[in-house]
Amino acid sequence: MCGIVGYVGPRQSQSILLSGLARLEYRGYDSAGIAVIDGDGALDMRKRAGKLGVLREDLKGAPMPDGTTGIGHTRWATHGGPTDLNAHPHLADDDKLAVIHNGIIENFAALKADLLSEGYEFRSETDTEVAAVLLGREYREAGGDLGAAFRATVRQLEGAFTLLAVHQDHPGLVVGARRNSPLVIGLGDGENFLGSDVAAFVEHTRNALAIGQDEIVAITPEGVEVTDFDGNPVQPEPFEVTWDAAAAEKGGWPSFMAKEVSEEPEAVANTLRGRIQDGAVVIPELEGLDDLFAGLSRIVIIACGTAAYAGQVGKYALEQWARVPVDVELAHEFRYREPVIGPDTLIVSISQSGETMDTLMAVKYARERGAKTLSICNTQGATIPRESDAVVYTHAGPEVAVASTKAFVAQITAQYLLALHIGRIRGTVSAVEAAEHVRELEAIPGKIQRVLETEQAHIEQLAHWMADTRSVLFLGRNVGYPIALEGALKLKEISYIHAEGFAAGELKHGPIALVEPGQPVFVLVPSPRHSALLHAKVVSNIQEIQARGARVIVVAEEGDAAVLPFADEVLHIPLAGALFEPLLAVVPLHIFAMGLANARGLDVDQPRNLAKSVTVE
Ligand code: M6R
Repeated sequence: MCGIVGYVGPRQSQSILLSGLARLEYRGYDSAGIAVIDGDGALDMRKRAGKLGVLREDLKGAPMPDGTTGIGHTRWATHGGPTDLNAHPHLADDDKLAVIHNGIIENFAALKADLLSEGYEFRSETDTEVAAVLLGREYREAGGDLGAAFRATVRQLEGAFTLLAVHQDHPGLVVGARRNSPLVIGLGDGENFLGSDVAAFVEHTRNALAIGQDEIVAITPEGVEVTDFDGNPVQPEPFEVTWDAAAAEKGGWPSFMAKEVSEEPEAVANTLRGRIQDGAVVIPELEGLDDLFAGLSRIVIIACGTAAYAGQVGKYALEQWARVPVDVELAHEFRYREPVIGPDTLIVSISQSGETMDTLMAVKYARERGAKTLSICNTQGATIPRESDAVVYTHAGPEVAVASTKAFVAQITAQYLLALHIGRIRGTVSAVEAAEHVRELEAIPGKIQRVLETEQAHIEQLAHWMADTRSVLFLGRNVGYPIALEGALKLKEISYIHAEGFAAGELKHGPIALVEPGQPVFVLVPSPRHSALLHAKVVSNIQEIQARGARVIVVAEEGDAAVLPFADEVLHIPLAGALFEPLLAVVPLHIFAMGLANARGLDVDQPRNLAKSVTVE
């Protein structure tokens, strides 16, 4: 949450900062601000509540002097509401110093009390201003040594933070630090960048450096220096960004979500790419790491939101192919109940951003207790993979819309590859069976494409008709259950409609009481070819809700005639193996959520109260 960008170099920085913020806006959009050291050596700052557009308009109406050193921030409010005053940057040292922050400084109240008792004053309700004022005090005590002051400041802070600072007496220098919040360096030619993630600078450079936990960075036009909090030099890890700026543009689509749903086939194909050789799964990142899977007695998948639902789907494949018991845990629940884990436990974390604080903390907790950790992640250089023993990247490309779509199908695909990899190591899946599953996986991109081509217009029309709906229910069984949960989450997240997902078998244990005449219910119907029994059970669930007046919208495989008499609407998906159906069945639900939000005139990319990357607990 919160997007951060910093620049030093020969160019005027305002437009670089603003376009970096535009690419980071998915991280938070309550307010935005920039601070620049201008050509006359003075610090100028402008910040406004609201989306970045408000700040842009403000700067257009009343331009601010420009300069070649600057920082910018887009906020998701934690301490203090989304007002102009609480927006970042925050100033200190007689307004010569500007600070921006992502995270939560947990001991801010105690620090603030000390600073108040020393006569310092505050203008905002934020924890960030405490860090700024503290840095101002340390700067004076360090006799104007910004590096020393910064080290002294961060050593006093508790909690999670990425901090960037500029001081007008140090043009050509941006200092930053990180603990439990993200920060990466972009290496340019005679210019350098800092960003919450590479999106901040990918239009200028794809050469990046990852900054580790509890490290400080100073960038100048000439170079980059990284140290620990005590000033000892550290060698940052270089990496090259694998996507270009165009990948993070809308590219003619009405929204990022529309673009990202259209990229679901590609997300699966790219996650498979380079990991299949002669029908066998070969995951280069896991080469030489067989020990991770030796003596495994349990897998625990930890994740939040959509990533957790992907984990619930993955559980079926991991148990079926690798024959290891799998639990799926919400990361924020995991570490507060003394879970039973040890060296025989593999923790598989799933995170698109790789920065979700709840997931990160759960991974750290598990590692400290001796468990092995593997991250499934979509973002290079992110913190969770760096804190894990191994990583399998999903190659879905940058996901900008707050609602996760293409990352979901990529996360399922990566888990299926992992399940086959572990299954082969453990001898629980034969080469022939694995090759059959691989063939199914390889066919998925084409089948998702078919759903997009044949069903999108129908689903959008349905969503349009249902624009005034107040509540939608989703039912699924087996692998369809997490898809029902995902369909409901997506709908509430972007269309603000009450939605619930249920295991269809649970219906008679309570939820059926919600069904009244006209209640829309989506039902995910498993193929009768895989289990006539499961199919029959779902069909009888449909009859039960239809008898009570529900408006039934069925997602069923092409040719499933048994559901037709009981369905008001049928959305078809191509035939696929039982475990592969979720990769297809989720697509109509993503399209529906987007269509309904559009029909209600809502911003599908930036829904209210949310941010893409939840970097606070
Ligand atoms: O970046 P992550 O995958 O760790 O994010 C986890 C959840 O916050 C995320 O999936 C969230 O639920 C999405 N906004 C759902 O669309």
